[in-house]
Amino acid sequence: MIEVEQVERSYQLDGVSVAALRGVSLTIAAGDYVAIIGPSGSGKSTLMHLLGALDRPTSGRLLIDGRDVATLTAPEMAKLRNETIGFVFQSFHLLPRTTALDNVALPLVYRGLNARDRRAKAAATLDRVGLGHRKSHRPNQMSGGEQQRVAIARALVTEPKVLLADEPTGNLDTKTGVAVLDLLEELNRESGVALVIVTHDLDVAARARTKITMRDGLVVTG
Ligand SMILES: Nc1ncnc2c1ncn2[C@@H]1O[C@H](COP(=O)(O)OP(=O)(O)OP(=O)(O)O)[C@@H](O)[C@H]1O
Ligand SMILES: [Mg+2]
Repeated sequence: MIEVEQVERSYQLDGVSVAALRGVSLTIAAGDYVAIIGPSGSGKSTLMHLLGALDRPTSGRLLIDGRDVATLTAPEMAKLRNETIGFVFQSFHLLPRTTALDNVALPLVYRGLNARDRRAKAAATLDRVGLGHRKSHRPNQMSGGEQQRVAIARALVTEPKVLLADEPTGNLDTKTGVAVLDLLEELNRESGVALVIVTHDLDVAARARTKITMRDGLVVTG
């Protein structure tokens, strides 16, 4: 599904090069459940941006769904992302003045579905994450756990092959975090979406089938 071979990513900052990834190799296969852990600044989010086709390596090879991102134009990257990847972030990133239903329907705009079909699909996805009763609520009218479930529904509505979650439980209390994780695992089991979760929480990481530890821009254990 995703192949990362000797990938480096450095940022240019005030004429100085900051090496965020210094030669990372890994594979995400269909249906995988992977946790990425490591200290702050070790390159976890940088790696997630690459896995999600939001960014390109400075060097090395990155294949997403069989396509070498180095050969893709920006619009081709956007299309690949919309068709293959779902993202969930620590701070939900929902549109504040938009209902749960319309937040979830938004990624379908790029699919050429009409408004009625988009809303029907969004409604079904909200039902799936247990939020059928919150369709007309706006983000500030929902709890943190509910907002994160809306974000998960938005990530899933396009039926991605890979769900990338960067600290998805970071802003939630323990109990709500466990519920969100239960939901992600259920989706992994039932629809086979590959799950890649960045976490600082070792209890969260322990639940994954594969654990990747990063340090200073390198994978130190697979
Ligand atoms: N846009 C940027 N410009 C310059 N340097 C950056 C940029 N983004 C990240 N970095 C640097 O790259 C390194 C890796 O950052 P990254 O965000 O991937 O870390 P992380 O493992 O996700 O950390 P955290 O656990 O705190 O989220 C850090 O040293 C960071 O300062
Ligand atoms: Mg990060």
